[in-house]
Amino acid sequence: MVPDDAAGIAATHHQSWVDTYGEYLPTGYFDEWTVEAAVARWERMLAGPPAPGVDRVVATTDGAVVGFATSGPARPIEDRPAPVRPFELWALYVARDELGSGLGQRLLDAVLPADRPTELWVFADNARARAFYARNGFRDDGTAYRDRRFPDLRVARMVRGAAPIG
Ligand SMILES: CC(C)(COP(=O)(O)OP(=O)(O)OC[C@H]1O[C@@H](n2cnc3c(N)ncnc32)[C@H](O)[C@@H]1OP(=O)(O)O)[C@@H](O)C(=O)NCCC(=O)NCCS
Repeated sequence: MVPDDAAGIAATHHQSWVDTYGEYLPTGYFDEWTVEAAVARWERMLAGPPAPGVDRVVATTDGAVVGFATSGPARPIEDRPAPVRPFELWALYVARDELGSGLGQRLLDAVLPADRPTELWVFADNARARAFYARNGFRDDGTAYRDRRFPDLRVARMVRGAAPIG
């Protein structure tokens, strides 16, 4: 990813949220999380180099963003249960027209070495993503929480690889 990708990544990210979660999210959620807000956020994130251990990959077709993935050290975040694996899949999004094309697999493989113990958080209702992660060796570890931005939705943890000992 480079700073010039920010607008394309934001558009893909926003459209994917509308498509995947639109029917579940609280009414008015996208009044605040607009495409413009997403662009500003991605511009901020891509303004500097990634932090150590962070991988950021974007896929393009004829210069247009069609997917992206990010990974890095597992993050302690607000109300979320503490990490149980050292590494985390932070984000994985494929544009509507590329779903089912194998791009999701290529992006996952690009940011996650198979031998690296990893966790990820996914909406419990996101059956498609959960099936994709299960095919990739992730399993539910039984932990879930509710984010205060969308209190009606469960966010579930999936893990791959052994937990560190000790
Ligand atoms: C998650 C994602 C990257 C996976 O890529 P993909 O191209 O959809 O992957 P696939 O087409 O291989 O589908 C994955 C599995 O879901 C199944 N599936 C497809 N549509 C489905 C649906 N509507 N409901 C349930 N399962 C579905 C597929 O049959 C496949 O299962 P299988 O491996 O047992 O055959 C992609 O769906 C995506 O970007 N989704 C929107 C954003 C998102 O949810 N990101 C994850 C955030 S945690």
